[in-house]
Amino acid sequence: MSDVPEPARRPEWTALENHRADALPQPDLRELFAADPSRAQRYVVRVGDLRIDYSKHLVNDETLALLLRLAEATDVFGLRDAMFRGERINTTEDRAVLHTALRAPRDAVIEADGENVVPAVHAVLDRMADFAGRIRSGEWTGHTGKRIRNVVNIGIGGSDLGPAMAYEALRAYTDRSLAFRFVSNVDGADLHEAVRDLDPAETLFIVASKTFTTIETITNATSARSWLLAGLGGDEKAVARHFVALSTNAEKVSDFGIDTANMFEFWDWVGGRYSYDSAIGLSLMIAIGPDRFREMLDGFRIVDEHFVNAPAEANAPLLMGLLGVWYNNFLDAQSHAVLPYSHYLSKFTAYLQQLDMESNGKSVDRQGRPVTWQTGPVVWGTPGTNGQHAYYQLIHQGTKLIPADLIGFARPVAELSDELKAQHDLLMANLFAQGQALAFGKTAEEVRAEGVPEEQVPHRTFRGNRPTTTILAAELTPSVLGQLIALYEHKVFVQGAVWNIDSFDQWGVELGKALAKQVEPALTTDADVPGLDPSTAALVAAYRERRK
Ligand code: F6P
Repeated sequence: MSDVPEPARRPEWTALENHRADALPQPDLRELFAADPSRAQRYVVRVGDLRIDYSKHLVNDETLALLLRLAEATDVFGLRDAMFRGERINTTEDRAVLHTALRAPRDAVIEADGENVVPAVHAVLDRMADFAGRIRSGEWTGHTGKRIRNVVNIGIGGSDLGPAMAYEALRAYTDRSLAFRFVSNVDGADLHEAVRDLDPAETLFIVASKTFTTIETITNATSARSWLLAGLGGDEKAVARHFVALSTNAEKVSDFGIDTANMFEFWDWVGGRYSYDSAIGLSLMIAIGPDRFREMLDGFRIVDEHFVNAPAEANAPLLMGLLGVWYNNFLDAQSHAVLPYSHYLSKFTAYLQQLDMESNGKSVDRQGRPVTWQTGPVVWGTPGTNGQHAYYQLIHQGTKLIPADLIGFARPVAELSDELKAQHDLLMANLFAQGQALAFGKTAEEVRAEGVPEEQVPHRTFRGNRPTTTILAAELTPSVLGQLIALYEHKVFVQGAVWNIDSFDQWGVELGKALAKQVEPALTTDADVPGLDPSTAALVAAYRERRK
């Protein structure tokens, strides 16, 4: 394995470095568009309902060809095929990576360790659909016989961000007679605020944890059980009607006191940040109903199939991944902004932060060698127009290169009033205007022509050349959401493959978790905790002093 060349030592990498050096000072978008009248049509890739325009990028045909050569040299498609085949490509955890099996059709055959996993996937989906149907119809009642009106998902990381994001995204498709809350933070304030106005007799807790050992989740679930029992007169039997679990770990679920008959299973070949289309999506399925959930899975599948079948030069996740590599590794960009022009996607970027940064925030390669090349970028952003009035200034005129994705929809959701629907054009006008302003800026001559006093010209000049991808779909439907998520999943995969890192482990979060367990007793007793560094020991002492 150690004879695998490091990506930065490959001739294809050097070719890109030379190309970058030839093109400095940076390719200019005005010139690139002037040189190629068909650029706006040619630099578009379509997948499912998504139209992905990458014409406003600092690339030309040669850049793209060189990037595709790098993908070929680093065998991105070979690793892709190994992933879809169920090989153990998560080498440090010795696991298959098969989130794509979660949306495979019933008759597909996908094997992990020689066993077809598809029947089990559909068996769980069917159980989820049955349960979701019983909650939605009122057939499943709480301990006192009252109908369930509130669903509280308790989970963190991948067991929270996905369902919370998708619930927001698809709110217009949700059963509005049910309330949904998502509790993740071990700060007791999170659970307190989530349940303070709820009737325990009408509340279902979904405890979502792949491992069922995550301290934040188990702590919150324990407190939720106390809250429930206090509200229902202390009868332990109530737990069975008000708690269900989503996990891979039946033993721990049972230890916690949840009947495994009320557990919806998934498997170790589903990474936490790739899990919301598994049982982890139960809260979402209750919210939007099983049919819409399946539409969402179909959307994921459209992009999976495209990723497998589309030729490299028209392969959307491949192109998006490679464009990111171009900026990250050759143009020194350190971050990537994701800016949805949809209020419903308010949690989309937070979700992508885990997907991307937990996957590709690595500094050794697959062979354990320290990387000498940049890996995953900082991913950040909020819904577009809000960002415009906050941090877009830096994107437009700051000193940093920040490639951005602008995501928008041609139609607002159907349930808005006519007056609110009419606002949609203004929203989208902002998206288009920002893409144009970022790319083409405003020259000093154009500023002067407006009669601006000379001393102000430099301040009002926009250099442009700020790259964006524009992703446009007709409407934010369950299928389109699935398509978007699968697009980003595979984009992250592509980058991890090029960088030769394991995108599917997350050892970096372990040290802090272990230390927190060690530090906690030190906060509540006067005992000395061995192993604290002097700075942390002083902080702990200051904390102890103040908490009295
Ligand atoms: O933050 C680390 C992590 O392991 C994530 O990868 C995962 O999504 C999250 O914790 C929650 O884990 P679990 O679902 O096992 O509670």
